[in-house]
Amino acid sequence: MNTIKSYIETHKNRFIDELIELLKIPSISADPAYTQDVIDTSAVIKTSLEKAGCDHVEICETPGYPIVYGHKHISDDLPTILVYGHYDVQPPDPLELWESGPFEPIIKKTKTHPEGAIYARGACDDKGQMYMHVKAMELMTETNQLPCNVKFMIEGEEEVGSESLAWFVERNQEKLANDVILISDTGMISNTQPSITTGLRGLSYVEVEVTGPNRDLHSGLYGGAVANPINILAKMIASMHDENNHITIPGFYDKVEDLSKEERAEMAKAPFSLEAYKNALDIDAVYGEAGYTTNERNSIRPTLDVNGIWGGYTGEGAKTVIASKAYAKISMRLVPNQEWKEITELFKTHFENIAPKGVTVKVTPHHGGQGYVTPIDNIGYQAANKAYSETFGVPAIPQRSGGSIPIVSLFEKELKSKTILMGFGLDSDAIHSPNEHFGIFNYLKGIETIPLFYKYFTELSKS
Ligand code: BES
Ligand code: MN
Ligand code: MN
Repeated sequence: MNTIKSYIETHKNRFIDELIELLKIPSISADPAYTQDVIDTSAVIKTSLEKAGCDHVEICETPGYPIVYGHKHISDDLPTILVYGHYDVQPPDPLELWESGPFEPIIKKTKTHPEGAIYARGACDDKGQMYMHVKAMELMTETNQLPCNVKFMIEGEEEVGSESLAWFVERNQEKLANDVILISDTGMISNTQPSITTGLRGLSYVEVEVTGPNRDLHSGLYGGAVANPINILAKMIASMHDENNHITIPGFYDKVEDLSKEERAEMAKAPFSLEAYKNALDIDAVYGEAGYTTNERNSIRPTLDVNGIWGGYTGEGAKTVIASKAYAKISMRLVPNQEWKEITELFKTHFENIAPKGVTVKVTPHHGGQGYVTPIDNIGYQAANKAYSETFGVPAIPQRSGGSIPIVSLFEKELKSKTILMGFGLDSDAIHSPNEHFGIFNYLKGIETIPLFYKYFTELSKS
């Protein structure tokens, strides 16, 4: 057994226990009730980086949640890897759908994870994946095989738009200077087929409000005679897709990059079973934009989805009422070349234009970000592929993901470096859902693969 494998074998139980402790802290960035827990988590990360062998670790205050920064400098002649991750998590609700407490981590064996998986909010996104890097760092320093300089930047606002990180990056270009950025906050195809994420979608997130009468009304006395904001909102939302499931906002597709036949053919080679996909979700058919496959629909095509809709009476029993207001939260996933601020404006104009007389509408932009694509002809990608090939026994497949990590395009703009997305999660790990989990196999494989990325990246940098 090589030193990496034997170190993991000796210490794996402690690696798992430490992650479990980290997962117990409810670092929910979206909910102000958990402010102290988010801050406490940053302190735990700081200590863990110190113990893992960083020379210097600090908590960097920002207008929002702190960023944990750490580094170990070996030599000016060696490359520097900047590791990014996030210690905040999504809210766990709906709580009643969790089989165990979201912040009471337990290990369960499943078909997909016969070696067990840790169930908790943040297990995969991103505490578990981020902590693989901390443990890989410990492994490399303890076994004397850290081959290059390393910097860590772990933030606490990814799930709410990374505003403070953008602020921090703009002010600390020199401190963050690097040769490549390494992130584990995405997924891979399966535990026998690794993949490297080569694209992320952008995002524009908006909230809409439709107001009708100045107060809630009796639906018998007024029904049929005034615009019902909920009916109107439903109609407006429905009109935003045509019969081919194209989005009807004028100008929405103007900048969408069309992939060549060859690129689409290349994408179609990734292993995928539509039957297994449907079975896993208990659906009898997939649904989406005409002319595109499922994998294309969820990666290279833009979308518009309602994430939440409310208004009127939703309590027990029935109440006959026409609400004064109706609301929805809407996300648009964007693809390369679509400017998220421009799309937000197009949405706003369109939504205002299609509102009928009898209601007023308000569109409030939330956060957003640009998509990202990375070429595969660079040493970062090659190093990652060599690392995966060695630990999984098969080369990785490049794959674009439908998710978003908006800060990645900002890294490229501000720090002028490419990001390598080495994700170890599976789509079935239920991130952002009840019963989120992360395979023990995946966790340990990540810790095993990361040091090899360091090794090959350093080697390829020299040649
Ligand atoms: N780690 C995810 C993004 C992700 C997951 C990308 C899996 C690819 C594969 C990240 O934490 C996330 O949830 N991002 C948000 C955007 C953010 C601005 C809230 C998303 O994609 O919804
Ligand atoms: Mn994440
Ligand atoms: Mn997330």
